[in-house]
Amino acid sequence: MGLSKEELLEKVNQHTWYHNIDLGNGIITPGRGWNRIWEPSAKFLERVEFSGKTVLEIGTWDGYFSFKAEALGAGKVTATDIKLWETFVLARDILNSKVEFKAASIYSLDESFPETLFDVIICYGIYYHLLFPNLAFTKMNRVLRPGGTLLLEGAYYPKYEGQSILYFSYGEDRLVSNDPTFCTCPTLKCLRNMLHASLFEVTEENPYLREKNTGRVLIMARKREKNENDLLYEHTYPNNLLRKY
Ligand SMILES: C[S@@+](CC[C@H](N)C(=O)[O-])C[C@H]1O[C@@H](n2cnc3c(N)ncnc32)[C@H](O)[C@@H]1O
Repeated sequence: MGLSKEELLEKVNQHTWYHNIDLGNGIITPGRGWNRIWEPSAKFLERVEFSGKTVLEIGTWDGYFSFKAEALGAGKVTATDIKLWETFVLARDILNSKVEFKAASIYSLDESFPETLFDVIICYGIYYHLLFPNLAFTKMNRVLRPGGTLLLEGAYYPKYEGQSILYFSYGEDRLVSNDPTFCTCPTLKCLRNMLHASLFEVTEENPYLREKNTGRVLIMARKREKNENDLLYEHTYPNNLLRKY
């Protein structure tokens, strides 16, 4: 950008940041400091061979994980969110990054990318904020190449371990009292079942954090082939119907 450190700092401090992004020159964006989530999540990216791969990130906000995937050698990174954040644009400029942005909801990925199948999808910190996570998983599956990799991070319900239970966090039954958007919290077994029903095979499951009522998990899953046992998928998401949601 050709600005001095002081000028860069002034620009950075004009914005409210979500992520803490290292912009070089000793400048780290003043985000929310959720390192207990972001550090293991960033480390988990290193388990994937990104070299030359096409990557789609969902819900990028300031772009932290897209910039990480680019730094890990991804061929082309497309970051999406329901809106473009000014912080993403500023960080991208300062980092001299080639990450592309497209405004897209997770629910309409197949319409936003009708011709593209990505090698890797990163979906961190999203599904438990969604009313329709199964639909979202299915939509991600549609824009992933066969055998492609989904990297998923989010909350799980640690009670009733070993059972397939989806806790709906709402009103007086909220699991996280200060976050009304935290709604859909599956047990680990339930999350595996939801992903399997959406045509993913979980290959790695790493529950890495326990909080008061919830835990956090990192998952790697592979897009699997549909077979004759996928009756739920077959009946719920026929091609012509899925487009209408
Ligand atoms: C909790 S933040 C997570 C940000 C980042 N992925 C991370 O893990 O640090 C949730 C993000 O999801 C985005 N989001 C909310 N609804 C969405 C939707 N329907 N489709 C795609 N992104 C959505 C929000 O705008 C926000 O950037």
